[in-house]
Amino acid sequence: MDVKKVMVIGAGQMGSGIAQVCAMAGYDVFLHDLKQEYVDRGLATISKNLTRQVEKGKLTEDEKASILHRLTPSLDLQHASEVDLVIEAVVENMEVKTKLFAQLDEMAPAHAILATNTSSLPITEIAAATKRPEKVIGMHFMNPVPVMKLVEIIRGLATAEEVYQTIEDMTHKLNKVPVEVNDFPGFISNRILMPMINEAIYALYEGVATKEAIDEVMKLGMNHPMGPLTLADFIGLDTCLYIMETLHEGFGDDKYRPCPLLRKYVKAGWLGRKTGKGFYTYE
Ligand code: CAA
Ligand code: NAD
Repeated sequence: MDVKKVMVIGAGQMGSGIAQVCAMAGYDVFLHDLKQEYVDRGLATISKNLTRQVEKGKLTEDEKASILHRLTPSLDLQHASEVDLVIEAVVENMEVKTKLFAQLDEMAPAHAILATNTSSLPITEIAAATKRPEKVIGMHFMNPVPVMKLVEIIRGLATAEEVYQTIEDMTHKLNKVPVEVNDFPGFISNRILMPMINEAIYALYEGVATKEAIDEVMKLGMNHPMGPLTLADFIGLDTCLYIMETLHEGFGDDKYRPCPLLRKYVKAGWLGRKTGKGFYTYE
């Protein structure tokens, strides 16, 4: 199947990154969110990223202009009727995602693929909210999207082979590396990453070391580019909590129990970098 037009739902950190790499690869993209200010913020991030590329000589002004030209802001979900592929990147919540997929199923053309960037939720359950489960698939990008090479591709129970192939081919066109993973809670990436982050939060909660010391140990001792608490702030503490809850519920094992300190921070609205405060404070 030939994908030409894409709609990205959610213009937050992941949606704006996904829209950017799609537009850079030559796709026409609608970038959709609930409010104009959210779409504007997503587009401003993209523009800033592209300007940095121009300053570094990796992109020309003309290329930047044509990439921006391929991006159309959207506040109307009905734009889904014009695209071949929807990539959903809204909040990590099953109720919100299934409601959205049921609406998209009504609006998108019959041939269109509905992909989700969920970090942990079952693809099969999201697909079951539609009448086209064979066209629903997980396309899990990593943060920051313009930099990270990996895309986990996850089939739901009913995902058609042709749909898998289309998404795998597109991932290559985006200059990313696809890895196929089965539909288990957290897939591979977050089944392994998130318990490490949660354990780092427990270590802080129990007073094993300061936040700076925990991050320093993992950076200097394990060569991680960011310490786990810095990374949690970068991902978003709400997203970290939702992923841990999915793992805990999905596997039923206490080793996935979200740390109470993580819950407390999310309740306080300390969601990390995106709200200016998490384990650390940001300008
Ligand atoms: N958006 C776009 N580009 C960015 C960026 C951002 N937010 N942050 C950095 N970059 C670019 C820079 O422009 C620079 O580009 P060039 O090579 O073209 O010059 C490059 O990335 C390196 O940037 P810096 O030198 O400024 O910074 P760095 O070397 O410290 O790298 C980093 C920054 C890539 C974010 C690095 O710290 C890193 O890899 N951190 C870990 C990221 C990670 O683990 N991501 C996975 C999160 S988990 C996930 O995504 C799954 C999930 O479901 C939760
Ligand atoms: P974010 O909070 O930065 O952005 C989410 C955006 O979705 C917001 O702008 C919000 O207004 C919008 N939104 C919420 N409900 C909506 C709806 N019904 N219709 C349209 N827009 C809606 O979150 P994020 O970090 O970009 O995460 C988005 C998704 O990507 C989640 O499923 C998350 O698990 C996944 N993900 C996140 C990361 C990460 O590191 N943050 C990495 C990979 C995947």
